Amino acid sequence: MTVVLDGLRRLEYRGYDSAGVAVITGNGLAVERKAGRLANLEAELAGRDGFVGTAGMGHTRWATHGAPIDRNSHPHRDVTGKVAVVHNGIIENFHALRLELEAEGVEFTSDTDTETAAHLIARSYAGDLPAAVREVCRRLEGAFTLVVTHADQPDMVVAARRSSPLVVGIGEGEMFLASDVSAFIEHTREAVELGQDQVVAITRDGYDVTGFAGEPAPAKHFRVNWDLSAAEKGGHDYFMLKEIEEQPEALANTLRGHFVDGRIVLDEQRMADQDLREVDKVFVVACGTAYHSGLVAKYAIEHWTRLPVEVELASEFRYRDPVLDRDTLVVAISQSGETADTLEAVRHARGQKARVLAICNTNGAQIPRESDAVLYTHAGPEVGVAATKTFLAQIAANYMVGLALAQARGTKYNDEVAREFRELERMPSAVSQVLRTVGRVRALGRQLADSKAVLFLGRHVGYPVALEGALKLKELAYMHAEGFAAGELKHGPIALIEPDLPVVVVMPSPKGRAVLHAKLVSNISEIQARGARTIVIAEEGDETVLPFADELIEVPQVPTLLQPLVSTVPLQVLAAEIACARGYDVDKPRNLAKSVTVE
Ligand code: M6R
Repeated sequence: MTVVLDGLRRLEYRGYDSAGVAVITGNGLAVERKAGRLANLEAELAGRDGFVGTAGMGHTRWATHGAPIDRNSHPHRDVTGKVAVVHNGIIENFHALRLELEAEGVEFTSDTDTETAAHLIARSYAGDLPAAVREVCRRLEGAFTLVVTHADQPDMVVAARRSSPLVVGIGEGEMFLASDVSAFIEHTREAVELGQDQVVAITRDGYDVTGFAGEPAPAKHFRVNWDLSAAEKGGHDYFMLKEIEEQPEALANTLRGHFVDGRIVLDEQRMADQDLREVDKVFVVACGTAYHSGLVAKYAIEHWTRLPVEVELASEFRYRDPVLDRDTLVVAISQSGETADTLEAVRHARGQKARVLAICNTNGAQIPRESDAVLYTHAGPEVGVAATKTFLAQIAANYMVGLALAQARGTKYNDEVAREFRELERMPSAVSQVLRTVGRVRALGRQLADSKAVLFLGRHVGYPVALEGALKLKELAYMHAEGFAAGELKHGPIALIEPDLPVVVVMPSPKGRAVLHAKLVSNISEIQARGARTIVIAEEGDETVLPFADELIEVPQVPTLLQPLVSTVPLQVLAAEIACARGYDVDKPRNLAKSVTVE
């Protein structure tokens, strides 16, 4: 049970409404479940006997069907109590299946879709657990990962996946199953990724993978390129704070090896220069912070390639019939590679024959698997629910895609591409410089902890930074926060300005387009005149903003298109500090989960 609880601790960021464990003991299945954080379950189990065995499973839940209460927590059992199931995803036809089972007299004890699977597997079981799981999977609709044990097969755990993550960890005399490798990283770095519609049965010594129809199926082995220390807090109070600190390294690792002999090399890209030359339009699809990274990238890709770039929320993309064809490049950005909305957008784009390039931080996740090509960000595991280091890494990856397109299409000379890449390579040190000076931002965060709302303004690439700053504050501090394009202020939002309202302004460089800088200075003076408390993020040495800044946060001088990489960092720190001052857990904000695997 200790192994299971340790694994759950590392996966708790994926869902924390409730938690449960099941262990196959000499006396059958021992199961305990508790609503709330994993700590509640651990308190319940402390000092309890009877949870000793060599096979077990656990689950942390993010509720979809049924409130987060004890009886809806996983694992769920069949009526005999011999079968236990944990499940991620949604079984879309569960209602019909439940009616079918109830007609046979099965009494349900929860409101979940998952319990249906437990009863169906028990009904199908005739001594062969993998066969029973396969039979049931063939009837299930939706996206799911199931992990199943049966008290009569104490040496085996069976799992199945469709459009939801599942990896196998290969130890010595021990095997693991998990949604991601961090659950078993302290035991092994050897892993196997499962394909779509596959079932795996693990025993102490091995694993066997089959398709839902029972046919032998290929499984791809990989070695995890980070270790336990990457999945631990390393002396920080929160993962998020550690991950903010790791941003220079995340950027450097993402860029490494991608500029060789004077050319951008995207080795995992699997797209020939000819393919890139044929592209006549780019769509970027993503959600949340990844979407903001796409908004930043639009400025650079259009500027470098002269191709039109549309950035679209993945959840909206396929519902508006976007114009896609073979010459459209769709860039799907996702830290987890599991986000259901982005995955569906990828499927839609490929269905329309567009070429899809995934930018992803998770090796072998579903989105890169279903894309034509992938460019991995090498930010390392991101455990805090709020995306930080992966945002910066996504911007860098997007920029490399832009430069690769420009290079292939000849819209930039090789020396220009080289110069842009060298500038990117300077960014880890610029971000380190920002991190050394965020003490003032922390102090400011503590002062702002009682504010009712905070507004964020920006123009050009500063606009998506403003959106990202507002998102961080909303999700971490549960505070009303809005990001605006500064030019839109006078078209409505300026009515929100009232005395002492904190307004964060992301200033462009005074050395960039002068008109942009001057316009934003006017915007700050307008809001200051109406009593707002202005917090200005500006390039060091920008003296023109001084009269308008109640608080000044300086960032290093960098090229205009790279400014988001430095100006976002203080906003991450600000949000984290405000949230901490308000007493919130910044790693696990309420109602959220790290991977949103349901639409
Ligand atoms: O794993 P993904 O990058 O696809 O996730 C997308 C969003 O759910 C994610 O960025 C979310 O907005 C973060 N919690 C923001 O901090």
